Amino acid sequence: MSNVKFLSGENVPLEMHKVRMVQKVNLLPVEERFKSMKEAGYNTFLLRNRDVFMDMLTDSGVNAMSQDQYAAMMQADDSYAGSETYYRLEKVLQDIFGMEYFLPAHQGRACENIIAQTLVKPGMVTIMNYHFTTTKAHITLNGGVVEEILYDEGYKIKSDAPFKGDIDVDKLKESIKRNGPENVAFVRIEAGTNLIGGQPVSMANMREVSQICRSEGIKLVYDASLLGDNLYFIKIRDPKYKDTKIIDITREIASMMDIVYFSARKLGSARGGGILVSDKALFLKMRELVPLYEGFLTYGGMSVREMEALAVGLLETMDIDVISQTPIIVEALCNELIKNNVPVVTPPGGLGCHVDASEFCSHIPQEEYPAGALAAAIFIASGVRCMERGTMSEQRNDDGSERLAEMELARIAVPRRVFTLSQVKYTADRISWLYRHRNMIGGLKFVEEPKVLRFFFGRLEPLSNWPEELAKQFRKDFGDSL
Ligand code: F0G
Repeated sequence: MSNVKFLSGENVPLEMHKVRMVQKVNLLPVEERFKSMKEAGYNTFLLRNRDVFMDMLTDSGVNAMSQDQYAAMMQADDSYAGSETYYRLEKVLQDIFGMEYFLPAHQGRACENIIAQTLVKPGMVTIMNYHFTTTKAHITLNGGVVEEILYDEGYKIKSDAPFKGDIDVDKLKESIKRNGPENVAFVRIEAGTNLIGGQPVSMANMREVSQICRSEGIKLVYDASLLGDNLYFIKIRDPKYKDTKIIDITREIASMMDIVYFSARKLGSARGGGILVSDKALFLKMRELVPLYEGFLTYGGMSVREMEALAVGLLETMDIDVISQTPIIVEALCNELIKNNVPVVTPPGGLGCHVDASEFCSHIPQEEYPAGALAAAIFIASGVRCMERGTMSEQRNDDGSERLAEMELARIAVPRRVFTLSQVKYTADRISWLYRHRNMIGGLKFVEEPKVLRFFFGRLEPLSNWPEELAKQFRKDFGDSL
């Protein structure tokens, strides 16, 4: 495997950094883990961090920063307008992406708000490989409709396909024809496709989609939040790019796009976000919204310290030893679980290991949220906090019926350069125990259900006293150990 370091002989990932600052974590006894899960309404978003052993909810805003990022924060130029920090960040972005105009925003979804308000008109369709929760919410808020055209292999949980995030080009052509190009707000490609298991998109696919969009006069928007992972997979899974510099791959991708946006909570291991665009008229149109929603143009809702950390973090993303770190740990976690027959999405993707709750909890109907129940059970069994990515993360249809998710996944995110291999092995060990007791896991029902993005604040109850029984079984099997 080119350039990526493994311990010789075995496929054991090798950390290419050393830890120089630490945070103590607590592992509560199982009885207390059950109690805090209950108090959190069986929603892992509502747990208090003090009760969590390993926070694997997300890779967003929780990545370890480098010493150079911290050092850069000290040089921030604090001012409302005209900050040098802004110009430094703008220059780094222009160099990396080769696009002329940059709009700062406080995070990824803020970029989505600006893009959707600018391009989506009521009744228009936005075509994409796959949606992300906040993206879809902004498009529908503006009266648009989302159409997903992932190719069939992407929907398969178990696969050998290296680029499961690819768009089905025939479906794209058919959709443009059916809707008419004038009714397509934009086509969106999401790098490292989040909700299907952090799966990458191939260069060949992006090129083909870009050509179609250009010939139809449709804007192509790239969500680069998970670009780091996608770049790593292009480098190691596409032989054509084995010897290409990461920055050159990045520029080639950007040259195919009309708009690139990102969450800097993921890309660049900082916090914030931004939009890049080459077309001046489009830049000026979107710029009108920045002071309204984000702040003045030279900070756009970000702190100048974060902007400095981001500029350095983006440059560090151009290094395989940096971007390889999460995918190789994800692969190690997936392999440990597979050894114990736990069903996971394959091939292993970026951002996290995705456990297939529809097989793990095949006895729980989708209306009783198998992935949500599994996430709660994983916390009780381990103190590891992961995230439901299934029907709970969908919004109900207008008539109030459930919109059943295509996949029911419990996502165990791997924040970049945060956890050690022994912690990862612990996680696999506890989930494997849970798998052996999977029939004890029961369903959940909402007792408080927000209308929009209900998974954030919704509260649930178990349909029987299964969580308590599970905690009792754990105590029986593990004796005095936590
Ligand atoms: N696009 C993708 C692909 C994302 O994964 C996210 C966030 C966003 C946009 C929105 O960015 O959070 O900065 O507003 N994903 C986080 C996650 C929340 O946990 O996967 P944001």
